[in-house]
Amino acid sequence: MNSDVLIIGGGIIGLSIARALKKRGARRITILERGAEIGQEASLAAAGMLAPQAEADKIDDFFRFCTESNKLYPRFAEELLEETGVDVELDRTGTLYLAFTESDVEEIRRRYEWQRGVGLSVELLTAETIRKNEPFVSPDVREGLLFPEDWQVENRKVLLALHKFAEQNEIEIRTQAEVVNLLVENGKVTGAETAEEKFFAETTVLATGAWTSLVKLGGAPLPMAKVSPVRGQIIAFQTVKRFFNHVLYSRRGYIVPRLDGRILLGATVENAGFDKSVTAEGVEYLLENGLEISPSLGNLEIIEKWAGLRPITEDGLPILGSFSVSEKLLVATAHYRNGILLAPLTAEILADKISENKESQYLQIFSPRRFHLTLPC
Ligand code: FAD
Ligand code: GLY
Repeated sequence: MNSDVLIIGGGIIGLSIARALKKRGARRITILERGAEIGQEASLAAAGMLAPQAEADKIDDFFRFCTESNKLYPRFAEELLEETGVDVELDRTGTLYLAFTESDVEEIRRRYEWQRGVGLSVELLTAETIRKNEPFVSPDVREGLLFPEDWQVENRKVLLALHKFAEQNEIEIRTQAEVVNLLVENGKVTGAETAEEKFFAETTVLATGAWTSLVKLGGAPLPMAKVSPVRGQIIAFQTVKRFFNHVLYSRRGYIVPRLDGRILLGATVENAGFDKSVTAEGVEYLLENGLEISPSLGNLEIIEKWAGLRPITEDGLPILGSFSVSEKLLVATAHYRNGILLAPLTAEILADKISENKESQYLQIFSPRRFHLTLPC
């Protein structure tokens, strides 16, 4: 079977790239997904925070990449609504980063100073102001930061919208199609194969998240640093009306209030291989840190628990671009804690490269070649 572009992996990264390519006029796009359905892995498990500032320690290329992608979200959300009728619930209320201990206070003051110093949008709030805006936050809160530009989106709805877009625009989706090997002929990648079938394409994109290093290239391991899974567990509560207005963040956990009254409490960060279990220890950890932010959560029913695998590589940065001289294979993976945030810009960059040979600086910065491994093709 032949395509112009073959995308391996039906998470937010693969689906967003497919959409961006279609909008640029690519005709035959095929997505191969190993699961029974697309969008069931990390992209579904995520909390949907679009929060470059909450975790940033400095302005560097990665921070710039995050903020540029965040800025694309209002248009991304608007277009998805127009294209598919799905409202992805982009919520621009902002994120509160809260301090409960002396060392938290030191940390947020440090963050406040450097972020203000470089002109980022951040406000230092007293405990009183926080409690006035968020009455269900613990009375033990000492102070906090408001990041007005750190938002959230309902990532499940983003996946739904991208899936609809694919269906409406003749993007072929093949599920239960696990790619085991990328095909190489005369030093060029010509497609991919599952145990049953070969798929040929002009360009192949590897968007396989935490499973990327299981895929072979011409029968050999991929010539780049390993991508590994980092488990994140989340629990969700239900309220009748919205408890919190902002995303609430502490150094030990976060609370994400959804429009429908669900409250997400996340997340663990664990090396557990490809095991997606929700564990007693994980839930205990989440509750301990969640109740520190808001003891009121203790009265709510837990309605859902889940875990997902974040894709990380050795330097913690995304891997974007090509490592083959022929540039017929592009990789878009290792978005670790920020794949929802980074999907719009990743998609633009990859689609520009594939359809117009436009070279974003980020293809150099996050190139798979940065790991200095030997290339088989
Ligand atoms: P995935 O969504 O995992 O998709 C990869 C797809 O490829 C899967 O469907 C998989 O089945 C398929 N696949 C793999 N191998 C093959 C193969 N060989 N053949 C065919 N198909 C294959 N990010 C944020 O920006 N904000 C957040 O608030 C946030 N919170 C998170 C909370 C948790 C608990 C977790 C786990 C992650 C969170 N993330 C967050 C990170 C974000 O979810 C990921 O970075 C992002 O989803 C990665 O997208 P992806 O498409 O690369 O991976
Ligand atoms: N970005 C939130 C998480 O990965 O848990």
